[in-house]
Amino acid sequence: MFTSASVAETEAAGARVAQEVRAGEVLALTGDLGTGKTQFVKGFARGLGSPAPVTSPTFTLLHEYLGGRLSIYHFDFYRLENLTALKTIGFDEYIFGDGVSIIEWADRFPSAIPAGARWIRFHMISPHERTIELQ
Ligand SMILES: Nc1ncnc2c1ncn2[C@@H]1O[C@H](COP(=O)(O)OP(=O)(O)O)[C@@H](O)[C@H]1O
Ligand SMILES: [Mg+2]
Repeated sequence: MFTSASVAETEAAGARVAQEVRAGEVLALTGDLGTGKTQFVKGFARGLGSPAPVTSPTFTLLHEYLGGRLSIYHFDFYRLENLTALKTIGFDEYIFGDGVSIIEWADRFPSAIPAGARWIRFHMISPHERTIELQ
């Protein structure tokens, strides 16, 4: 666990995780609104070399970022009401596919998260400080 003192430090943490991530891995992010999950994904996509702009898939459930070392599937369960929507988009094909999946609010539907996922937990400490706990 470490403390990030800025957006840049949170992005750098994402970029570091990207250096070591392997095809098929699933990253399960937890933490309240505004704790830096999406900022972390920005650094993660940059670290994998994807030029795609990262935005929160709150309303669309999934954004794909291609063009880097691995394809990235960015999910956000914040507005997800049940598992049916995941079935509809073929969630399992993404998470068991050859890219990497990174899921915000993963703890809202833990049953959808595979056992081998790496959990990353975000907490707000002060307006500009966040702790990031990497499993
Ligand atoms: N150390 C920090 N790390 C990440 N974000 C920070 C930090 N300090 C302040 N912030 C602000 O917190 C917000 C984090 O937003 P976001 O990444 O969208 O959160 P989440 O996806 O967890 O809801 C941004 O407005 C960002 O500017
Ligand atoms: Mg977010």
